[in-house]
Amino acid sequence: MEKDRKMIIFFLFLAGICSPVLGAEWTADVVKSIDALVGSCVVLPCTVSHPGTYLSTSRLRGIWHRKDKWNENFYHEDSTKILDSFKGRTKLLGNLGQNNCTLEIVQVKDHDNGPFCFRVELVRKDNNEPTKEKFSFVEKCADIKMIHDVPKPKLGPIKTANPGKPYTLTCSVHHTCPSHRPQIKWSRENKDDEITEVHKPIHSGIWEVESILSFVPEEKDDESELICTATFNGGMKSEEKFTLNVKRETNFGLLFCLL
Ligand SMILES: *[C@@H]1O[C@H](CO)[C@@H](O)[C@H](O)[C@H]1NC(C)=O
Repeated sequence: MEKDRKMIIFFLFLAGICSPVLGAEWTADVVKSIDALVGSCVVLPCTVSHPGTYLSTSRLRGIWHRKDKWNENFYHEDSTKILDSFKGRTKLLGNLGQNNCTLEIVQVKDHDNGPFCFRVELVRKDNNEPTKEKFSFVEKCADIKMIHDVPKPKLGPIKTANPGKPYTLTCSVHHTCPSHRPQIKWSRENKDDEITEVHKPIHSGIWEVESILSFVPEEKDDESELICTATFNGGMKSEEKFTLNVKRETNFGLLFCLL
């Protein structure tokens, strides 16, 4: 009985030492499909997790490569190992020590087709050479869908303004590059206007920039055109406009005279 218990403890102990070495439990989560505006940038969200204890960024090497072509690297810390067509355009934004393998691609080209697969290598402390622990997550690669038409911002809510009463208008646009997000500008340039910007994730791989314009319209602003312009990284622009309607102040004096 006592012997059995000792055996069990021994095996548990063995499993404890061996499991981080066997490392069967490495996993990565990569966005499956993402839109990218040609000429702009795109960020591929990615998280990676490994069994066992914490590993610092210096012990981990993150690589992005083409599916089934392990030597065609989109990103590698050694730039000589990156495909010529991607050199200088990819960056690992995520911190591997924090399980983050997020990739940024700038100056997106029409032929930047993947699929983009993440690979992690555990490197030796002494010589930075890869150990036997290497994992390519080829089951979970990201596909990029190229977009040529610049996304149009959305304006709202469309409502009639009252003279002298605060009025707010929101202009928002979706994007896939939080590291160089689109800039939103308004055509109105009154120094008393207030502009607030909000940035938020919508769902995996999609973010939104929202600009909220608040001002106090006057009667003379009736029929004036309001334009909101979104400028994406790379310089592409799109705009949305609408014509402001300001309610006329009923002129009781005039009404009285007419009666
Ligand atoms: C990963 O890193 C990117 C870039 O720094 C960051 O925007 C994102 O929030 C991080 N993701 C997680 C899950 O921490």
